[in-house]
Amino acid sequence: MKNLYSLGNKGTPLFILPNTEFKSWKTQQSDFIKAWLESTSFNGNGLTLLPDDRTGKVFQAVYFVEDITSYWQCGDLASLLPEGKYLFQGDAQHRELVAFGWALGAYQFDSYKTNTQPKAKLIVECQQELKKYQDLVQGIILVRDLVNTPACDMMPQHLAETMQDLADSFNGEFSQWVGDELLEQNYPTIHMVGRASEHKPRLIDLSWGDENAPKVTLVGKGVCFDSGGLDLKPGAGMRNMKKDMGGAAHVIGLAHLIMAFNLPVRLRVLVPAVENAVSNNAFRPGDVIKTRKGITVEIDNTDAEGRLVLCDALCEAQNDSPDLLVDFATLTGACRVALGTELPGFFTNNDAVAAGLIQSGKNVDDHVWQLPLYAPYKDMLKSDVADLSNCAVSGFGGAITAALYLQEFVEPQTPWIHFDVMAWNNRKLPGRPLGGEAFGVRAMFDYIQSRYVI
Ligand code: BES
Ligand code: ZN
Ligand code: ZN
Repeated sequence: MKNLYSLGNKGTPLFILPNTEFKSWKTQQSDFIKAWLESTSFNGNGLTLLPDDRTGKVFQAVYFVEDITSYWQCGDLASLLPEGKYLFQGDAQHRELVAFGWALGAYQFDSYKTNTQPKAKLIVECQQELKKYQDLVQGIILVRDLVNTPACDMMPQHLAETMQDLADSFNGEFSQWVGDELLEQNYPTIHMVGRASEHKPRLIDLSWGDENAPKVTLVGKGVCFDSGGLDLKPGAGMRNMKKDMGGAAHVIGLAHLIMAFNLPVRLRVLVPAVENAVSNNAFRPGDVIKTRKGITVEIDNTDAEGRLVLCDALCEAQNDSPDLLVDFATLTGACRVALGTELPGFFTNNDAVAAGLIQSGKNVDDHVWQLPLYAPYKDMLKSDVADLSNCAVSGFGGAITAALYLQEFVEPQTPWIHFDVMAWNNRKLPGRPLGGEAFGVRAMFDYIQSRYVI
């Protein structure tokens, strides 16, 4: 982020135009440029760099795209352009889209690289705009950085440090329960899942904003590494499990946006942070645990650990009766089977919320897809020895049964949204580099704005 923008007013002019305008644009060019376009076989798709007929230096960059209103289409610009400074020519709304897409695409997770490439920079003329772009982009980059950071450097204590820093920089309040304190404070499931790790489990709690404002509570799955526990994952399935704190990363990024844009809400962020590790004291299949809510749960599979850490956090989240309760989690592989890796699924107990959220996803080009809390499938979570099983008998509908498990811990009158996300780009697309990614954060931010601001 540090190097993506540059404050100033001088740079190579950059135009972004729709493909459909290529022909008429070309007719307005000099004979020299026309010849240049022809000799480079430029036909109005993508980037062309126009040379000055005397010096040979680039005097203008023109980028033709299908849809100039989509920020994703500018996602490759920073890597296509040669090193230098570029001044985009367009109105304020368009400038914001370009700046956002530019930064999302230019992102590189380079904390562990010795040499990093110099990059093209986008000139921003006014300090206020610069701050706005940086705040917007930071919400997403924070998510990516947290997910990309290897588990050895992103354990529960590191998530806690990140949230402490965030609280400090926005004058929020921070607290946490660590290790055995979780037992004293009655968070048995968080302790149980995390107790086999040498990195102590914890419940991290951040609050911010006017206490009389409507309460928005965010809960994020913070499984810093998911080995599967005693039901150990096979190698291929474990390979990317540093991303299993992606839900926590999503709510931290969203919290950053809410605080940076000073939304009129009372925000609370709860992150149950654990490592699902294997050790002599690991929890086992067949164990029974009494959750914070009092519901007893039989462990069928130690790899269904996300719902276990979330259920105690969701129970706590109800304590101050939030006006909106949102959780994000890399909860199930089944959700990816249902929707693929690039479309986040969400569940909600409130139809109006669903409609608003879907609309927000469309508004900001961050699409989300509703899946059903189909009550008849609750039967699949029955246990012979406890109130509930942590895992359905069949894997079919696994995203739904996981969501139904969570719903048992949410009061029916609390508007609640549960996101099941991938948190990772498996393929590179413009504006979406490989690796950690935020899904639904901008949609959720837009929805919160529409619910409480506009
Ligand atoms: N963290 C995984 C889910 C996951 C895996 C999300 C891959 C995205 C990509 C979760 O803890 C898990 O292991 N879930 C199991 C649940 C099963 C044991 C009921 C799954 O999805 O296989
Ligand atoms: Zn798991
Ligand atoms: Zn997991």
